[in-house]
Amino acid sequence: MIRSVIAGCGGYLPARIVHNDELAAKVDTSDEWIVERTGIRQRHVAADGEMTSDLARVAAERALADAGATADEIDLIVLATATPDQTFPATAARVQAQLGIRRGAAFDIQAVCTGFIYALAIADNFIKAGQSRAALVIGAETFSRILDWEDRTTCVLFGDGAGAVVLRAAEGQGRNTDRGVLSTHLHADGRQHDLLYVDGGPSSTQTTGHLRMLGKEVFRHAVVNLAAVVGEALKANDLTAADIDWLVPHQANKRILDGTARKLGLSPEKIVVTVDRHGNTSAASVPLALAEAKADGRIRPGQLLLLEAMGGGFTWGSALVRL
Ligand code: UT7
Repeated sequence: MIRSVIAGCGGYLPARIVHNDELAAKVDTSDEWIVERTGIRQRHVAADGEMTSDLARVAAERALADAGATADEIDLIVLATATPDQTFPATAARVQAQLGIRRGAAFDIQAVCTGFIYALAIADNFIKAGQSRAALVIGAETFSRILDWEDRTTCVLFGDGAGAVVLRAAEGQGRNTDRGVLSTHLHADGRQHDLLYVDGGPSSTQTTGHLRMLGKEVFRHAVVNLAAVVGEALKANDLTAADIDWLVPHQANKRILDGTARKLGLSPEKIVVTVDRHGNTSAASVPLALAEAKADGRIRPGQLLLLEAMGGGFTWGSALVRL
């Protein structure tokens, strides 16, 4: 059977770093509260005029270089974002042009923080169906543009960034020892809309709007849904948590990461953590964590990775990948 093998990874973070103390000078918060409740110490914020497509392009270029691939090999770009440059055209199309790619499909998908898992599942299915041979899957966000910087319950949590992977079609045996994406599981429950949303949009208010979240409620759902979707991935592949080399989770809150690991019986050393330095970068967080851990040699070829995320919608999902 055809498998989608992760041939390369890349990440990009804007140059400007905002530490907790800088936020404490603007809203009623403190470094102590933010670190204790979230594990976040700093986040990156895009410069004026630096757009989601700019972040995505650099991450994509780095993923292509890591894969030893050229842009003209790519016949599909799936870009996950909730903060596109414009309502249309797709940010993916702009990135395609910037990379000099002249063929294939390019489109955005929107599943907020679960976006990269959704995008990976879509690209994997294109490849398995024979419609793509080499795909760029990107998660890129500039959440700093949709934050209410006077709302201390949300503005301290998020950051900007982008991550990307190159997927290549390869022959597999149909076993869990194959390299590539072994499974993806996606979920949505639109009844939970009001717990995490943006209070604007082209069809509702004709404004961009700001992120609104009932954090405590989201937290409760996150721990339950993530444990369930991780269990689903293990069961579908006839594996146990002990078989996993690395959990590469969406980075929303260190306490959620710890809670998920505890539920799985996974040791904390097997979890890739970036939330302390990146904050929550929504769809970019999983590919950024992947790129960082691969670049520093923690994640190695042949290892088994479990990717998971949960976000607005609600949406949530997991992907089991052998690098
Ligand atoms: O990526 C998409 C998924 N998103 C998530 O997974 C986020 C999930 N939620 C969370 O991570 C946590 O719920 C938060 C970090 C957002 C909040 O932590 P919490 O422990 O659930 O705190 P809380 O909302 O219950 O607030 C506790 C107190 C409140 O004060 P009172 O009512 O007890 O007097 C808040 O007003 O902390 C207050 N508070 C703050 N204090 C200082 C809320 N935000 C801040 C702040 N600084 N930034």
